[in-house]
Amino acid sequence: MAIQISPITPTFGVKITGIDLKNDLDESTHKQLKALLSQYAVLVFPNQFLGPAELIQAGEIFGPLMPQQLQKYILPDFPLVGYNSTKDLPVKNGKLQVRGENYHTDHSNSVCPPKATALSAVKIPSSGGDTQFVDVRQSFDDLSPKLQEKIIYLRSLHVHESTRSPRTFTKLSEEDLAKIPNVTQPLVIRHPDSGRPALYLNTGRMEGIEGMNADEGFNLINSLYEHAIRNKYEYRHRWAEGDFVIWDNRSVMHQANADYNPEEFRYLYRIMLEGDALSAFLP
Ligand SMILES: [Fe+2]
Repeated sequence: MAIQISPITPTFGVKITGIDLKNDLDESTHKQLKALLSQYAVLVFPNQFLGPAELIQAGEIFGPLMPQQLQKYILPDFPLVGYNSTKDLPVKNGKLQVRGENYHTDHSNSVCPPKATALSAVKIPSSGGDTQFVDVRQSFDDLSPKLQEKIIYLRSLHVHESTRSPRTFTKLSEEDLAKIPNVTQPLVIRHPDSGRPALYLNTGRMEGIEGMNADEGFNLINSLYEHAIRNKYEYRHRWAEGDFVIWDNRSVMHQANADYNPEEFRYLYRIMLEGDALSAFLP
């Protein structure tokens, strides 16, 4: 059966059917899938039902996997596979405290952030718990040439948790924290495969803009962020059990939603792919 590819939004995201990622796929299919991820940034494969070993195999189509940062949420038999489980989440005032609320790109404070992240949905609540994506290539393209010209030269310090973070992060042990160096990243990055520019934003981790005073830097970050998260740049994925979804952290931001019943069980496997240091989009 031939692979079918259908667009999800006018600018990014495709649904891929007619393929079983549990099979050994040939090199030309691997090449095709990698090219689709680079171009469309979010790939949705319904009805895959990948267990941990199969998830590793599917992830490796796109590149080598990297260890999960939160080592307390990994599978002992498959240490490269993490999990998101409602059983680990605290409830405050009747609302789940999920990781990853507010739009972000994963581990932007790493020298080499993961190039992609993928989830395999095992158990999904009856409603809520969607994952949202926004295309930060398109939102850069839509800025005025004058603003583009200004921001392509700027860099931001990314830290574990910004002093003005809109979300709180899982507290890391001193030992884990020491392993994560703070790093400056370009405000606009060049995608290593497609060459496209993209906004590189993570309001939870960005500590202002180099060369600007704090308020000026945070105002610029917040205005770019508000622009980038508008509905027109969004794809909202409503999970079904068996879904495998992989996204390119250099082309989209994503966010989790805590809007489901804390009594219902939600469980997904998670993997990340090794990435390279990011390059600025400079002329
Ligand atoms: Fe995330």
